[in-house]
Amino acid sequence: MPAKVTPFPRPVINAPMAEATSVRDLASAEKGVLRFLTCGSVDDGKSTLIGRLLYDTKLIFEDQLAALKRDSVRHGTQGEDIDFALLLDGLEAEREQGITIDVAYRFFSTDKRKFIVADTPGHEQYTRNMATGASTADVAVILIDARKGVLVQTKRHTYIANLLGVRHIVLAVNKMDLVDYSRSRFHEIVASYLAIAENLGFDSITPIPMSALKGENVTRPSEAMSWHGGPTLLEHLENIEIADTREAGPFRMPVQWVNRPNLDFRGFSGTITSGSVRPGDDVVVAKSGKGSKVKALVTADGDLPIAHAGDAITLVLEDEIDASRGDVFSLRDSRPEISNQFAANILWMHEEELTTGRPYILKVGAQTVQASVTSIRHKVDINTLDKTAGHALGLNEIGVCNITTNQQIAFDPYRSIKDAGAFILIDRFTNQTVGAGMIEFSLMRATNVHRHAMDVSKAVRSNLKGHKPAILWFTGLSGAGKSTIANLVERKLAGFGVHTYSLDGDNIRQGLNKDLGFTDADRVENIRRIGEVAKLFVDAGLIVTASFISPFRAERDTVRGLVDKGEFIEIFVDAPLEIAEKRDPKGLYKKARAGQIRNFTGIDSPYEPPFSPDLRLDTASASAEALAEMVVEHLRKTGILVTASDESLDFSI
Ligand code: ADX
Repeated sequence: MPAKVTPFPRPVINAPMAEATSVRDLASAEKGVLRFLTCGSVDDGKSTLIGRLLYDTKLIFEDQLAALKRDSVRHGTQGEDIDFALLLDGLEAEREQGITIDVAYRFFSTDKRKFIVADTPGHEQYTRNMATGASTADVAVILIDARKGVLVQTKRHTYIANLLGVRHIVLAVNKMDLVDYSRSRFHEIVASYLAIAENLGFDSITPIPMSALKGENVTRPSEAMSWHGGPTLLEHLENIEIADTREAGPFRMPVQWVNRPNLDFRGFSGTITSGSVRPGDDVVVAKSGKGSKVKALVTADGDLPIAHAGDAITLVLEDEIDASRGDVFSLRDSRPEISNQFAANILWMHEEELTTGRPYILKVGAQTVQASVTSIRHKVDINTLDKTAGHALGLNEIGVCNITTNQQIAFDPYRSIKDAGAFILIDRFTNQTVGAGMIEFSLMRATNVHRHAMDVSKAVRSNLKGHKPAILWFTGLSGAGKSTIANLVERKLAGFGVHTYSLDGDNIRQGLNKDLGFTDADRVENIRRIGEVAKLFVDAGLIVTASFISPFRAERDTVRGLVDKGEFIEIFVDAPLEIAEKRDPKGLYKKARAGQIRNFTGIDSPYEPPFSPDLRLDTASASAEALAEMVVEHLRKTGILVTASDESLDFSI
């Protein structure tokens, strides 16, 4: 939907001003805080603009002013006039260089509103600073030098503001004094800006001609530009209506910690990221589907009758339910999405580039999981807004990526609830934040299908069987001996009265997966489905053997993430290609070498051996029988095989 563009020369944004003296004025005390960011290049006059706002709203204290006058003479570029830019460029080093290099937050207020302004640098390499400022901003003030017009960085700022979910744009056409306050120049700039921004989906775009240096149309109307019928910047910022999406959204509360000071009290503490909640509401843990009614909303200042977005509370429920740090509470009838695959915009912030397939730590809300980018759908050239192909993201680059996590996460798309869809990526070894992301949508079709909580659990089912459930995942080349060993293991287990089931490549491909071939994509889907099936068997309490080439680490890791710790046992059936090819039990290698079979693993399709399998079976040096015995021994050692007399068995529900 195209943005509501405030028409010039009389922007409709003027309309609320007429009423502002009445009802709206009274309400203004509750209007709260407006957060905005200013973006523009070094010379667009950004710092001057903010300095002017602060100065005119009388927020500069006398002593600061005296220092400013001194500095203006020393460093300033405005002769004897006060150089407002100096007020903002806090660091001495920055002053000397004449640039601003970090996000500086300023606070000021008028009778109508409080303001927090993020001043972000205009240099390209500081994209991440601008993103930081934009992530909390309601309004972006995009500065343009009237002499230069719309530049590539104007596009970049607009794109990032849009990406980070800023809904309102002020196009501050500055330095109008240097173009003789030309109305036609202003109109020309506005028209070229609208050509790039109109269809990006902003709620409003408000162009204002101004001279920050001379204070025209910043806080006081300009006589020289009396043709501008719209508000000054300050009037606009005072009156713009920002929908409080956080407040109006569905209830979300990530659990920061489980509060259990004594046996009689148990509550879940966290800060509400969206919506509100009252005692009596039917809430659920998004991932498990377990829920209860809210008994009380406890805070340090007493119980609340209702708690809103931004409130830090302890949720006390009528029933005991399981939830831990990272879980997200919602109302039963409006739950977040649950998925382990989604598309997201990623802004890369590290010198070492983002590489697909590499595992990172992903934090969304209070959830921390392992994640990898499976593919970069496209990169965005933020200067031209062109989409480009690429396998890696460099410093300050932005790309739309597909991400897989090793566990399901609960989230909302960033567009709907910023705090529930924003994440960071952390390097596993250095612990540095290397990327920031915004979830666009889930890649799983059934994200709005929520789990139904069952009373008879996996633990209960497995206790009935007298052993723990597990997936014995045999991976290796075709002909390595996976099925042979799995078959022997299953026979041995059956001998002990263990309830097993076997999933095998050739068999599954004749039924459940008969629609799949051997392209990379089909193999990924093959393993995804088998992983899900194996998980169901584990849930049923069985030991399941799965014998699949499963050539990619990422998919094997994904299956590991589907079940509980210790339940996925990766068994690398290690046979070098020469040996597997020599055995060639089905004659397939021969066909593949002859070009009759395409995408054959080891020949013209890759195999990624596990880095650290739970078990490695060296098929060149031991018999299948001996290797099967090793597997059984491993099950004993890890406590998966337990006898019925074991005291640890617990049949309670
Ligand atoms: S996987 O790569 O998707 O895990 P899976 O284990 O299900 O493969 O199936 C492998 C079996 O399919 C092989 O043991 C072999 O019998 C048969 N097969 C047929 N074509 C191919 C091929 N192009 N690559 C590998 N295996 C193939």
